Amino acid sequence: MNIKRICCIGAGYVGGPTMTVIAQKCPHIKLTVVDINESRIAAWNSKDLNKLPIFEPGLDKIVEEVRGRNLFFSTDIDEAINEADMIFISVNTPTKNYGKGKGMASDLKYIELCARQIAKVSRQNKIVVEKSTLPVRTASAIKSILDNTGNGVHFQILSNPEFLAEGTAIQDLLKPDRVLIGGDASTKEGEVAIQALIDVYLNWVPKEQILTTNVWSSELSKLTANAFLAQRVSSINAMSEICEKTGADIREVSKAIGMDSRIGSKFLNASVGFGGSCFQKDILNLVYIAKSYGLNEVADYWEQVVIMNEHQKKRFSDNIVSTLYNTVSGKKITFLGWAFKKNTNDTRESAAIRVADDLLNERAEISVYDPKVTEERIYEDLNYLGTRSSIENKRLLTINKDPYRACKNSHAIAILTEWDEFKNYDWKNIYKNMEKPAFVFDGRGLLNKEELEIIGFIYYNIGTGN
Ligand code: UDX
Ligand code: UDX
Ligand code: ADP
Repeated sequence: MNIKRICCIGAGYVGGPTMTVIAQKCPHIKLTVVDINESRIAAWNSKDLNKLPIFEPGLDKIVEEVRGRNLFFSTDIDEAINEADMIFISVNTPTKNYGKGKGMASDLKYIELCARQIAKVSRQNKIVVEKSTLPVRTASAIKSILDNTGNGVHFQILSNPEFLAEGTAIQDLLKPDRVLIGGDASTKEGEVAIQALIDVYLNWVPKEQILTTNVWSSELSKLTANAFLAQRVSSINAMSEICEKTGADIREVSKAIGMDSRIGSKFLNASVGFGGSCFQKDILNLVYIAKSYGLNEVADYWEQVVIMNEHQKKRFSDNIVSTLYNTVSGKKITFLGWAFKKNTNDTRESAAIRVADDLLNERAEISVYDPKVTEERIYEDLNYLGTRSSIENKRLLTINKDPYRACKNSHAIAILTEWDEFKNYDWKNIYKNMEKPAFVFDGRGLLNKEELEIIGFIYYNIGTGN
């Protein structure tokens, strides 16, 4: 089967970049990305490429090349669904914040709405591809909705989890370590659907890197990959606390263990805690699944990864308070970085949010600079917590477009995101304009301790005893 038209439901951090790259590599396929959020679609269509809704290095250039050629962004969901041979579902699946499974399970409301909409408007057979990370066996729920439309249309469901990391999305999509396709190879129709999706990827991915499994293995592999990655961060963060007490240095430990080829050197950077839309959500989801099967030891094992991460964030804010003579009340503390990692404007679950909330509870005044995150986003993140009124948040936290002004007159600087530009700042100048003693709390191990100490800063790093 030759795919000619693809529709992607959900124009977010996954759907947008993924379809952009498919469009570039498959000029013979017409792709339409749809979303219920009109302003998001308008942003994807904006002439000024700086106004795209998400920031990803290299994305704007490819959008410029393919948009209007074979890539389209639209709010006309029904039409895009109906004309497509293949539909990617790439909508958000946040952790449920109500009812059964609250705070743990994935909220599949948006997925189900998509399935119902596909069922309602489809007039020809289609392949439906799960792109969002989903709990195991979601495909069967989608299938049961689609199979009961009564209009004689047949659907094949595939799982094709996306492994891209934000900040490197374009590179990850252009050169994926692997592409995983889960499908039902036991039927002829299933096999045809799997092959159709393989053929899309074969336009740029070597066939050895395209892996096929059954649907459940594919769904579970995605949760497992994220759980393992998050576990590495929590493991190294747990060791960072031991380093601080014993005088070992976490960077030396990371290097030493990373040279063991069985462990590998990547993803061993101690930090203020992992963020992002996936790690916490997927682990909590895994914990919920394990508990629902009565696998309590398995659930507890994975839950500890999230508990450790919460501890790491709390420990960072506690250290700021205790170092600043046990009070930050009325003191200006500058946050460099708000995004959950560098090279993205995404802030979901960013450690900065939690650290800010803690310090605001201690009555600190916070000044934030982030090169890509918008002012609205920062206030929304804080207001969402509901700890204090939006008016209070606005009064206590200010946002600066200039990093030097953000740092002026502050008692301490906290590095929350590892943006490269922070390394090249004129730190002497920043020091001169701060209250003394001037502290730096480096939550990312980004800056050079010796250089800062020569200038006069008191410098704290994660995982190094002082
Ligand atoms: C280990 C370390 O590998 C080694 O670096 C250190 O110096 C001593 O401890 P060892 O205990 O000899 O070495 O064997 P290892 O190959 O690590 O296996 C340990 C146990 O883990 C074995 O029972 C092995 O069967 C089990 N294992 C290992 C698994 O169950 N699954 C695996 O994937 C790997
Ligand atoms: C992750 C997975 O990497 C990706 O495969 C999946 O598709 C989505 O979830 P993402 O959340 O975009 O991607 O970013 P990632 O690079 O994994 O970083 C997640 C968090 O862990 C960030 O807050 C990052 O700063 C933190 N991290 C990562 C560390 O603190 N230390 C590390 O060594 C690596
Ligand atoms: P991700 O990181 O998984 O891409 P995002 O939140 O960035 O998540 O993107 C998901 C997008 O899906 C959002 O823009 C949201 O508006 C969109 N969306 C959610 N439900 C639907 C739906 N039923 N139909 C169309 N778009 C939807």
